[in-house]
Amino acid sequence: MYRILFAASEAYPLVKTGGLGDVMGSLPAALAALDCDVRLVIPGYRDVVESVVAPIIKAEFTIPETGHPVRLLETTLPGSDVVTWLVDCPSLYGRRGDPYNDEHNIPWPDTAQRFALLCRAVHAISLGIVETGWLPQIVHCNDWQTGLIPALLSQSADRPATVFTIHNLAYQGVFPYDTFVDLKLPEYLWSADGLEFYEHLSFIKGGLIFSDRITTVSPTYAREIQSAEFGAGLDGLLHQRSEKISGILNGIDEQVWDPAHDEFIVAHYDADNIDRKAENKQSLQKILGLQEKSDKPLIAFVHRLTDQKGVDLVIGALPELAKLPVQLAILGTGNPNYEQQLVNFAEQQVCDIAVRIGYSEPLSHQMAAGADFFLMPSRFEPCGLAQIHNMRYGTIPIVRSVGGLADTVTDTNPQTIAAGTATGIVIDGVDAEALVAAIRRALEIYNQPYVWSDLLQSAMRGSYSWRDSVDKYLGLYQSLLASRR
Ligand code: ADP
Ligand code: GLC
Repeated sequence: MYRILFAASEAYPLVKTGGLGDVMGSLPAALAALDCDVRLVIPGYRDVVESVVAPIIKAEFTIPETGHPVRLLETTLPGSDVVTWLVDCPSLYGRRGDPYNDEHNIPWPDTAQRFALLCRAVHAISLGIVETGWLPQIVHCNDWQTGLIPALLSQSADRPATVFTIHNLAYQGVFPYDTFVDLKLPEYLWSADGLEFYEHLSFIKGGLIFSDRITTVSPTYAREIQSAEFGAGLDGLLHQRSEKISGILNGIDEQVWDPAHDEFIVAHYDADNIDRKAENKQSLQKILGLQEKSDKPLIAFVHRLTDQKGVDLVIGALPELAKLPVQLAILGTGNPNYEQQLVNFAEQQVCDIAVRIGYSEPLSHQMAAGADFFLMPSRFEPCGLAQIHNMRYGTIPIVRSVGGLADTVTDTNPQTIAAGTATGIVIDGVDAEALVAAIRRALEIYNQPYVWSDLLQSAMRGSYSWRDSVDKYLGLYQSLLASRR
């Protein structure tokens, strides 16, 4: 089938800070399973390079514009057969920390240089300037870190087709003009029809303007980003390119997120065997130091602690939530101000609450298995994977109806229960009162055993795989290649 080169800043299990990592860890493999010849390129961050056993040195080259020496290391993405290339450049990537921040959560001062190098390397590989013995038909770029790739490729007559997927329009990679100069980007790219954005350099504009097709990760978000409310200043541009935009819903990795086989949880279960979920709840309560009460509804919140995720709404609701018979379990990292407020609440024990600041893959699985509800009051949500993971674990999402949340979660009411389609609770509003009202409604539902049991069944039995979405990507690639003949 097609030869596709995926480019991104993270890919699970090598490196992940959020849903982009999940998608890069599963979509390329799902396409490879349908006989596509897929390769993935990510930066060779220090921890990643150290974790890879005996990589092959596929190529060694220098980026002419910046003089950076690069080795292209070949490995396979663990858990799959996907050939993965690491752009190894120790002066830019050989440090501890995550892709975007240092160990103290401070953004890297040379973020632009780090991702420009990734883009330059992918550009060279895609045109055969760097010999790998393989040329892609399609370069599939993901988020702003890869935005310069379509821009750099745009001038080459014999270039591969380009697709740019927006996982989150709120992150745009905007830097001062000096950075544009420092990166030695071609002068013609400095214009309003190019990378210039209010006299700054915008990486994401490279993807939005120069790619052949734009996708985003849910149909609703594809519509929303063309409006001022969700367009983050780029709605005008997106509206102009409307015909090239489509929304394709993310799937999840059904092997990594499977309560019947999850290596991180104490008791395995599925929709036929849901009683065993209670053992996971007890274990989670023990791990987190919460009261070990089986009948007290446990609400989990596992997110990057940003405004996007509505963490401030949760903080605002805590005094009211303290009056309800619920337990709260919070895991996250992000805005230090939110981190501190949550820690303070936990220390004061205003309610039965446990807060863990940090990033923990095992605990996120244990919370999906052990909680009754999963809170996701996002202001906007391109797709959201956490609510899908939790539905599969029989943990009912309480969400705002935006973006991918609107496309994946169906509110519980007499009609949807009767139809067997109810999978969650929708919050009606963007304030703490609306959040508390939704949680009160959730508790009423929890206390109706038959309704609750139907809800768990329809949430757990939903179809969350990549199957349908991969077909949509194949259709997109096919029509794109046909249009270029
Ligand atoms: P986003 O990509 O906006 O962060 P998603 O819901 O698409 O949101 O994906 C988030 C992913 O990151 C999920 O797999 C979620 O479990 C994970 N995650 C977020 N925060 C943490 C954390 N503190 N520890 C472990 N996993 C986390
Ligand atoms: C982004 C979005 C999230 C989406 C993920 C993967 O980080 O915030 O909604 O699920 O990317 O596409």
